[in-house]
Amino acid sequence: MKRHFRVWRGDASGGELRDFDVEVNEGEVVLDIIHRLQATQAPDLACRWNCKAGKCGSCSMEINGMPRLGCMTRMSTFTEDETITVTPIRTFPVIRDLVTDVSFNYEKARETPAFAPPPGVAPGDYRMRQVDVERSQEFRKCIECFLCQNTCHVIRDHDENKPAFSGPRFFIRAAELDMHPLDDRADRKEYAQASQGLGYCNITKCCTEVCPEHIKITDNAIIPMKERVVDRRYDPLVWLGRKIFRRDELESASAKPSSAHPSAPHPPTANPSAANPPTVNPPMSSARLPQTAPVGPDGHMDIAELVAPQQGGLSPFGEDIEFPLPPEQISYHHPDPDKSPDH
Ligand code: SF4
Ligand code: SF4
Ligand code: FES
Repeated sequence: MKRHFRVWRGDASGGELRDFDVEVNEGEVVLDIIHRLQATQAPDLACRWNCKAGKCGSCSMEINGMPRLGCMTRMSTFTEDETITVTPIRTFPVIRDLVTDVSFNYEKARETPAFAPPPGVAPGDYRMRQVDVERSQEFRKCIECFLCQNTCHVIRDHDENKPAFSGPRFFIRAAELDMHPLDDRADRKEYAQASQGLGYCNITKCCTEVCPEHIKITDNAIIPMKERVVDRRYDPLVWLGRKIFRRDELESASAKPSSAHPSAPHPPTANPSAANPPTVNPPMSSARLPQTAPVGPDGHMDIAELVAPQQGGLSPFGEDIEFPLPPEQISYHHPDPDKSPDH
């Protein structure tokens, strides 16, 4: 049977949709049809692909306007008289035809601070509870197809937001590391908020909708990260600690204990020496640190902060949201560590 296709042909200087009538056989996917086009009518049609099994993340394209993997989109999902329009993913610059320049994502990957195990623990000596493995396993399924990046409205038609926004793929990386019991950086969520543009995300869940690995990007990564940023800002103990202790004492006290449950709060302590040993990982560049309330020369916050209507800065959720959120609005549940066997 012949089916009607419209495929975008062109390069960075411009292009157009071209019409093709192509043979389609039972069980084929859109990538099969692109290959047939290359074999029969358009030998110079550029398309990136590798595995044809939904595992390499190369064949991202927009099919009838929907970001999808060409190799995972069955022709049987379209009606027989439907025209199938195939265009390159829109958020990234076109190189040629269906091939785009996704180097933005690799730049953001390089900017994301790497896994930082505690000092003195050699590779091979790492031990994790199974529950912690399972929590981050979901995020490790990412095949880097960048469909979530492509669909996110923050950068889809807004190149100007790209320098300040890493995108959902890198929010799940930040969440994975933040939940990792052996990651020794205590400032993952502040970094996500201040330098990865977490605050730009307004939880539309479009990224989750297009993820071919069915990673719950918003529910399991973005929302918990946002909640934890808010916890840090609004937790009464942390708030009080900010008033009493110097910033360097708080930073030392909030260093993440490697054996603790990752969701455990980091209460301030008056005795930083009793906290975990300081990390050997260098601090993130000061230009990237989140901006908190200013401190005086003695290292203490101004007393005016006590009476300010909004201590600790503006809420990333907007000022009309009250915390704690009611349970029905919180969709992330930590697994019960007592029910999991030691690994
Ligand atoms: S939920 Fe956030 S990251 Fe995902 S598409 Fe919407 S704005 Fe972008
Ligand atoms: S999170 Fe999902 S949509 Fe985003 S790059 Fe990974 S696999 Fe693709
Ligand atoms: S060709 Fe590998 S995901 Fe489609």
